[in-house]
Order: sequence, then C-alpha cells, then structure tokens
Amino acid sequence: MRPTPHLLERLPQQYFTALLAEVSRHAALDGEPLVDLGRGNPEVGPPQHVIDALAEAANLPSAHGYPPFRGLPALREAIATRYADVYGVEVDPDTEISIMPGTKTAICELALVLAERGQTIVLPDPYYPDYPSGPALAGAATGYVPLDREAGWAPDFSAAPRDDVAALFLNFPSNPCAVCVPEGTFAGAVAYAQETGAAVVHDFAYGDIVFDGRSPQSFLAEPGAKEVGVEMFSMSKTYGIAGWRLGFVVGNAEIVARLDLLADHARVGIFTPVQVAGIAALTGPQDSVAERVETYRRRRDRVREVLPHITAEGSFYLWWELPDGLTPERLLEHRVAVAPGEGFGPRGAGWARLSLAVPDEVLETGLERLAMALDS
Ligand SMILES: Cc1ncc(COP(=O)(O)O)c(C=O)c1O
Repeated sequence: MRPTPHLLERLPQQYFTALLAEVSRHAALDGEPLVDLGRGNPEVGPPQHVIDALAEAANLPSAHGYPPFRGLPALREAIATRYADVYGVEVDPDTEISIMPGTKTAICELALVLAERGQTIVLPDPYYPDYPSGPALAGAATGYVPLDREAGWAPDFSAAPRDDVAALFLNFPSNPCAVCVPEGTFAGAVAYAQETGAAVVHDFAYGDIVFDGRSPQSFLAEPGAKEVGVEMFSMSKTYGIAGWRLGFVVGNAEIVARLDLLADHARVGIFTPVQVAGIAALTGPQDSVAERVETYRRRRDRVREVLPHITAEGSFYLWWELPDGLTPERLLEHRVAVAPGEGFGPRGAGWARLSLAVPDEVLETGLERLAMALDS
C-alpha cells in the first residue's frame, strides 16, 4: 500500500478520542470508580413521544429504503417554523436549510465548501476541540479570534486575521466558556465578514440551553447575517438525542446549496424514522426542553457551592481556571476526570472544562473529590 495521504496526516490529534482513551485507562486502574466530568454526552434521553415516533416510523415497511437526499420536506418545514417561532428568523425551508447527520459533520463539510487550500479559517480561542479538523481536511490554515475574558468572552475582532480569510467560526452559548452571546458580537461578526469576505459559521449547538431568564439568540436574527453566513443547529443537546445524529445548517442559500451538492456525492440522506422523530421533537410539546434547562441550571448552582467564582449563562459546561498547583492529572489521582483546557486552543492552558451532563449522584461524588483535591 502507498503511504497515508497527506490529507489524513494533516488531521490534528482528535481531542475527544484521546481524552476518552485516557479516561478509560485511568478508570481501569485500582481505586474508587472514576467520575468522568470531562465529556459532554447528554445523560437524559428524549421525551417518550419522540421515541414513540421513532419506533412507529421504524415499523413501517417504507422506512428502510434510501431516504430523500435532501431530507423530508416536513422536517425542513419544522425547523423553519422553529426558527420563526422561537428565534424570530424567517428562513426558506427549500433553499436555506441543509439537513445534516449531526453538526460535527457540518463542521468538517463547511470547511470544505468555504475554504480554498491555503486560505485561513478563523476559530474562536478558546474553541470547541472539534473545530480544527475542518480546516485540516480543507488544507486551510487556522487563525484565531481571541475571546476576551474581561469583556464576557466577547471576540476581539480587532485581533483577528484579515488576509485571505475564508470563514469565521463562532459559538454561543459557548463551549467551553459557557457564556451567552455578548452584546454587539453578532453585529461585529457581520461587519468582519463584510470587510474581509469571510463567511460566518455560527455554532448554535447549545442555543436552547440558557439560564436565568435569558432567551436563545440566533446569529441569523442579526441584520445582514444571512447574506454572510449560516448557523449550525444541533438536535443532540436540546432533545438529548446525540446518538441519533441529526442537525441542520440554516441560512445563506449559496452555502446551503454547496453543502447539498457535497452531500449528493458523499452521503445518502438520513434514516427516515430519525427524521420523522425529529419532526415530532420540533413540533410536539417542548416541556422536556424546559426541564432539561432547569436540570442543568440546578446542577450549575450546586457546583457553584463548591467553586463559587465560576459563572455559566448557558450550555451544560463550566469553564474553570485551575488554582495554582492543581492540574487535570492531579484530579485524576483524586479519581475525577475533567477536560483539560489545553485542547480548547492556546488560551485554554491552565483551565479545565467540567460537564453538568452527568447524573446528580455522579456530580455529587465528583464535587466531593474536587473539594478534597482543592483542600490537599
Ligand atoms: C460546540 C459544539 N458544536 C457541535 C457539537 C457537535 O454536535 P452534534 O454533532 O451532535 O450535532 C458539539 C458536541 O458536543 C459541541 O459541543
């Protein structure tokens, strides 16, 4: 066989693959069962009516053939209605929505359809660790827009690259910083795109998970946003169906058309029952979303009893600046795993991400051990 193509060689180490392996290795060591607060995998599944819709659709003889490449029109209608009713944004279900097998796929495919080799894709710093994979596959360079801690983690666009920038990725509520979008950020992103010609990709994975009376804020509600960019909407966190692989790219019709073209070649739609159940999730009762948000809010408040200086406005994470001398490795000795901040970009050093997506009793044990580690 010939050597591995450069394309694969360019890929960075996959942060979560490496993290899971490290956590498993430690879990297998002698001692108390390891508490894993590192991974963001929703521990509460979808509401029953959504599971029922999946099962019912899977029992139809018509369920098992190839689905329509571009998804069920009713699913695109359902997400368009969601955007209108909840986020105050009008989108055309035929031309401004691309159905995705989860937004992780969208991260890579957007890089491929937006960047020419050698151009730059700008990521927020800190960023979600899966972002660098897209630029690597596209042969693009990675640049950063720093998130300014003093300004509520607002991007400092004055410090962002301006040469040959193909795309800017942003993510609010932020993983890992757990803040909602700071005032003026989306307007700044539109202005940056207009100045540089970059497309904006806003990652809305935690869009619905906001606390303390805040409302979800879509990038597409910003004037001019649809002319310059798209938003990735994930069903994984809002409805607890991360394993189903369902998400959307919504917004700019040219970008949507490029994604659909790529999908025509590389994928064959999404299993119809998953789409049918996605419609049930989007159009049915939304109590489960409010309950989920309340659960994470309650857990956030509980963690703050142990780590009072940590704040979180949304998402199900906490971004923790580790006190001097405390490292993720030290925490592993106390049998608690966190996501080391180094994997979240240059500004992540010395920080760790804690996940609230674990059962209450696991969180309690984790907190006891964190308290012991802080005392030692
Ligand atoms: C910020 C962010 N974006 C995207 C994703 C990917 O979500 P999915 O592929 O399940 O839609 C995640 C998952 O953890 C995430 O945290």
